Amino acid sequence: MSNPSLLILPGDGIGPEVMAEVRKIIGWFGDKRGLNFDVSEDLVGGAAYDVHGVPLADETMAKAQEVDAVLLGAVGGPKYDDLDFSVKPERGLLRLRKEMDLFSNLRPAQCFDALADFSSLKKDIVAGLDIMIVRELTSGVYFGEPRGIFEEGNERVGINTQRYTESEIERVARSAFELAMRRSKKLCSMEKANVMESGILWREVVTRVAKDYPEVELSHMYADNGAMQLVRAPKQFDVILTDNLFGDILSDCAAMLTGSLGMLPSASLGAPMANGRPKALYEPVHGSAPDIAGQGKANPIACILSFAMALRYSFDQGAEADRLEAAVEQVLADGVRTADLLGEEGVTPVSTTEMGAAILAKLD
Ligand code: NAI
Ligand code: MG
Repeated sequence: MSNPSLLILPGDGIGPEVMAEVRKIIGWFGDKRGLNFDVSEDLVGGAAYDVHGVPLADETMAKAQEVDAVLLGAVGGPKYDDLDFSVKPERGLLRLRKEMDLFSNLRPAQCFDALADFSSLKKDIVAGLDIMIVRELTSGVYFGEPRGIFEEGNERVGINTQRYTESEIERVARSAFELAMRRSKKLCSMEKANVMESGILWREVVTRVAKDYPEVELSHMYADNGAMQLVRAPKQFDVILTDNLFGDILSDCAAMLTGSLGMLPSASLGAPMANGRPKALYEPVHGSAPDIAGQGKANPIACILSFAMALRYSFDQGAEADRLEAAVEQVLADGVRTADLLGEEGVTPVSTTEMGAAILAKLD
């Protein structure tokens, strides 16, 4: 059987810097664990614009559709700020998400003990936190029609439409239940069924899908209460399922419970391909960080943990993902810190490559 395939798109700014560390980790899994990937690399964002005049070439898009998983660094930067909207670096990423139809966005919020002091919440409220937000990514109010700014009488009206079909709700719900089955079998669905019809339908469909997963304990919560509960007692949750708009806000909120942007991975999954694996794009939550790009200061952990998610969700290598996450946890427990993680007195920050090397050393 051929090796699973991985397309690496480092992108712009710190993207290539953090991806260089991930490549070493991928190499380690090949050398030491016999887990070999067919890795190809291509351009996205400003890097693609510089060469092709577009932020994602058609050939790259075609390659992304064929591989088992795409791993992306980050796109964007001040150099491209004045470009026309249609060729901005971010459009490259949007095209990938749209054409791969990545409807299920997984955003973990996990608190590493060594970093619990970084949270804006009290240490005992976040220590040990490990939750996963599943956000619907391709529909809802960001895409619904009608939309626009229209003349109405003697003033203008701005309109967006929250629109969900049953099948759109069902497919993301299934992906959340599947995830819950791999975790602690607890799922909380959040909408506002009290004031929105789309929320009523959401609740109905999720309740129906739940019948196929009798082992999963399902609860429903209005999203505003969910926001309160997330900052009051986040450990009550395991998997949270929600729509595009609420998920945008709730996942950013949950992320900050656990500290630095340099730590946060994500996965965006679509429908299963012929080989049973879902279409998949893994990327850190952070952007290209132009303020620190080229200085060797970037924290590679978000991108490394994104690869751990790929191991788990695309390649069924949960034990290897655990191994990689444990190495990250141990390095942090040893007090190794990139500049974004400085808080304690008297700690000298390590560089991007030193952090990568420390994680590799722990893996050994
Ligand atoms: P950003 O995430 O790039 O940076 C925000 C702050 O966090 C900066 O101070 C940065 O130095 C710091 N930071 C981010 N990642 C870090 C890491 N791994 N290690 C250490 N520090 C880190 O967001 P910003 O500044 O709003 O956007 C910069 C560019 O990135 C823009 O062009 C934006 O459009 C783009 N962007 C791209 C995203 C993507 O590719 N998915 C997501 C967000 C922004
Ligand atoms: Mg957001």
